[in-house]
Amino acid sequence: MAPGEPGENQGMTSRLFEPLTMRGTTFRNRAWVSPMCQYSSVDGLANDWHLVHLGSFASGRAGLVLSEAIAVTPEGRISPDDLGLWSDAHAEAVAPVVDFVRKQGVAFGFQLAHAGRKASTYAPWRGHDSVPVGAGGWQTVGPSEEPFGRYAAPRAMTAADLAHARAAFVAAAQRAAALGADTVELHFAHGYLMHQFLSPLSNVRDDEYGGSLENRMRFPLEVIDAVRAVWPDDRPLLARISATDWVPGGWDVEQSVVFCREAAARGVDLVDVSSAGNDPRQDIAIGPGYQVPFAAQVRREAGVPTGAVGLITEPAQAEQVVASGDADAVLLARAFLRDPHWVLRAAHELGADVEWPPQYLRGAFS
Ligand SMILES: Cc1cc2nc3c(=O)[nH]c(=O)nc-3n(C[C@H](O)[C@H](O)[C@H](O)COP(=O)(O)O)c2cc1C
Repeated sequence: MAPGEPGENQGMTSRLFEPLTMRGTTFRNRAWVSPMCQYSSVDGLANDWHLVHLGSFASGRAGLVLSEAIAVTPEGRISPDDLGLWSDAHAEAVAPVVDFVRKQGVAFGFQLAHAGRKASTYAPWRGHDSVPVGAGGWQTVGPSEEPFGRYAAPRAMTAADLAHARAAFVAAAQRAAALGADTVELHFAHGYLMHQFLSPLSNVRDDEYGGSLENRMRFPLEVIDAVRAVWPDDRPLLARISATDWVPGGWDVEQSVVFCREAAARGVDLVDVSSAGNDPRQDIAIGPGYQVPFAAQVRREAGVPTGAVGLITEPAQAEQVVASGDADAVLLARAFLRDPHWVLRAAHELGADVEWPPQYLRGAFS
């Protein structure tokens, strides 16, 4: 049998390539595509860029392809160029992406998002400020009137705003379910709306949604309850959190553990543990796998499966994260941009079996 021939390494064990079953859904391996904004939509609609971009990760046999942050309302977009899922027309436009990925035997999920006070900004290659109202931008909303850095100040959300945002998450989850998505990931990280509610740096409300940890968790937990009520029982629900603001006095890993315990009790099946994004004063200790210890701590102390993300680039490193029990899956972003077929290469390097697309089988032979 030639090196690299499928089956050559049969019998060798890789934890990274062990399937993961949650509820009625099986992910074929534990190397997942982390959400990546593409800033390539007009009016929130998916197009051929999204099909090719996300489709390539399915040809590359990732265990789960997660969409970029897909906005549940127009005002929840990070930029005017974000993908959205707030109408049936949006669902129709993104349907070919879901179908293609799933036809490859690869699980697909949407990252449902609302950017709150960090909405209405330029795509990174166009600028780093708020897009002014009247120039394609809009009035943002947030838990309080505190702005993020030099961005335009948000309007503090009223009870009606909260109900509207909650209902938008529900409607987007229903559309995702109807499209056949295997999972949805609630975006509670990176300083976007839910993280803004969680962190005392961005949430200075004096009603039942601000102040104590219990109050700051209230809105995100309500969203979990509302989404879980419509999301099919046999499909897993994921949430991405920022484990810490990396700012003294801010959101931290201890509060994250409490929140994740509550989230798991309400039907979140796996927490994807990232960090930062809520305060420009953040001082991040960055390095290979720098957020893995947070995933390990949440898994251990909150008793919920986790995904680890952040500067995981090498197959042996990814294998170690899963094999050591620090996390149940790894999510990679930039490594997939460099090599959409990272998983096929990882299987070869780790001596694991992976089912190549028949069209690409010749690539398995040296
Ligand atoms: C181009 C790009 C777009 C991103 N967009 C999102 C996003 O939509 N949602 C999200 O949660 N994280 C987003 N991220 C963060 C990644 O998902 C990931 O957490 C981060 O890049 C660290 O992983 P890495 O070191 O493997 O790149 C983005 C990262 C990149 C590079």
